[in-house]
Amino acid sequence: MTEKFYLTTAIDYVNGAPHIGHAYEKILSDVIIRHKRQLTDKAYMLTGTDEHGIKIQKTASAKGITPKELCDENFSKFEKAWAELEISYDQIIRTTDEKHRKVVKQIFKKLLENGDIYKHSYTGLYCSGCECFLNPKDLTEDGLCPDHMKKPEEVTEENYFFRLSNYKEKIADYIKSHEDFILPSSRVNELLNQLKDIEDISVSRTKASVEWGIGVPDDIEQTIYVWIDALSNYITAIGYDIENPSEQFKELWPANVQVIGKDIIKFHSIYWIAILMSLGLPLPKTIYAHGWITIDQSKMSKSLGNVIAPHDVLEAFNLEKPDAFRYYMACAAQTGKDGNYSDEDFKEKVNADLANNIGNLLNRTLNMLVKYFDGEIKTEFISDNTSKIAILAANTKTQVIERFNKYEIAEAGNAIVSFADSVNKYVTDNAPWTLAKEEKMLECGQVIYNVLEAMRHIAIMLYPYCPNIAKDIMTQLNKESNFKYDELVWGGIKAEKITEKEKITPVFLRLDSEFAQDKKKGK
Ligand code: ME8
Ligand code: MG
Repeated sequence: MTEKFYLTTAIDYVNGAPHIGHAYEKILSDVIIRHKRQLTDKAYMLTGTDEHGIKIQKTASAKGITPKELCDENFSKFEKAWAELEISYDQIIRTTDEKHRKVVKQIFKKLLENGDIYKHSYTGLYCSGCECFLNPKDLTEDGLCPDHMKKPEEVTEENYFFRLSNYKEKIADYIKSHEDFILPSSRVNELLNQLKDIEDISVSRTKASVEWGIGVPDDIEQTIYVWIDALSNYITAIGYDIENPSEQFKELWPANVQVIGKDIIKFHSIYWIAILMSLGLPLPKTIYAHGWITIDQSKMSKSLGNVIAPHDVLEAFNLEKPDAFRYYMACAAQTGKDGNYSDEDFKEKVNADLANNIGNLLNRTLNMLVKYFDGEIKTEFISDNTSKIAILAANTKTQVIERFNKYEIAEAGNAIVSFADSVNKYVTDNAPWTLAKEEKMLECGQVIYNVLEAMRHIAIMLYPYCPNIAKDIMTQLNKESNFKYDELVWGGIKAEKITEKEKITPVFLRLDSEFAQDKKKGK
């Protein structure tokens, strides 16, 4: 595959530090982009931070610092968290970047020139949590925003409005005629219903109410609505410019997938699409909406005091590498569904899959190779691609690719682990230790070869989830690898000495949860 692949993530508000909900999205995205890089050299991942708006203005003012100081402070927390989780983005955009600010103004101007933006006086209920006006019929019985459980503010202002109503039908038609556009497709009906109620939206606020943002061109009284500003990042980052778009923009746009959380589907599948239509730009191929991560089954929130930072998990379990957490998060929820984090479940899942199923299998098999064959694979052990395990490996590869094409990341992970299950069962069924006792050394060596070659396949497929463990598996197998999918051809392990007793080390150690709990309590 030589086609390009452009992935974007939502850009996080920097009014706080990153938590494992933010991490979930970035891990899913990173697993996708690493998988695509296994297939193409032109895979590009953009992430970023959303730095304007009333929330940031208010938080900064409460702390007695400037909004930019708050942004800088929190941006570095996000940057650090993503480095720790080994999120391999190609670019991270901040909406306070000068280049971005300049192009957002151009975009606003262009929408005005197109007649899609007009000025209008309006009274509505504004939720600063959502950074948008709410429809009274969407509030709770007590008149609260259902997402933030806060009372929206009644606001009367003369603002600029975007003629979203003009685009309703076109967007609905587009959604209905492009089945990969909204994934998972279970979201489509909900979205089509929302679309029915859509009215023109306010796309500016007065400077008096929101100071921290990008000014409306030629109108010093108004600030551009934070969502217009934020959504535009997907094109400004890669060099969109009305007059003179960059080569990179021409190559990468439209995005192949825009990864977002389910709470912001409306902004991406309606507002954003209308903006692109007005600008005359092609539409993204897929908007992929993931579910919500809860902690011990409840919503994470500062007021509940149950917000977990990704670093807390690594620290609690004394993990130097992020692989286990990446793996757990990537497989935490079925595609599009909500997932839950608990220490206990984390420990069980990674112990079962990474330590026992994969790590232990490799360890046992290498030990047998040393014990029976002095660590050496002999030519006659090597099977061809018609062996049972070789066929299973090829089927797993096909399944994994198909799952990834639909962004079913947990399901792809499960396919890899279930292949490892089958290899474990193969070892039990064929008992190489019994074969050795019976002096059937050829058969014994063949079983060992099949397992080690299966492990090489597992390492490649597991790489997007667990890059360090994958590298360690390859080291244990004495193989060089760049983890490209063209290495997924049966027979990569040749007749040679692979290892010796001293070189065999576990690729993943079981987590000790009691130890972790004690550590958390500061014992
Ligand atoms: O919405 N579980 O920023 P944000 C899973 N700036 N995902 C979660 C989550 C959780 N508990 N909490 C948040 C914004 N997210 C805007 C986006 S895009 C042009 C602008 C996800 O910091 C959320 O769904 O509130 C979103 O995709 C991302 O984290 C940033 O959320
Ligand atoms: Mg949010």
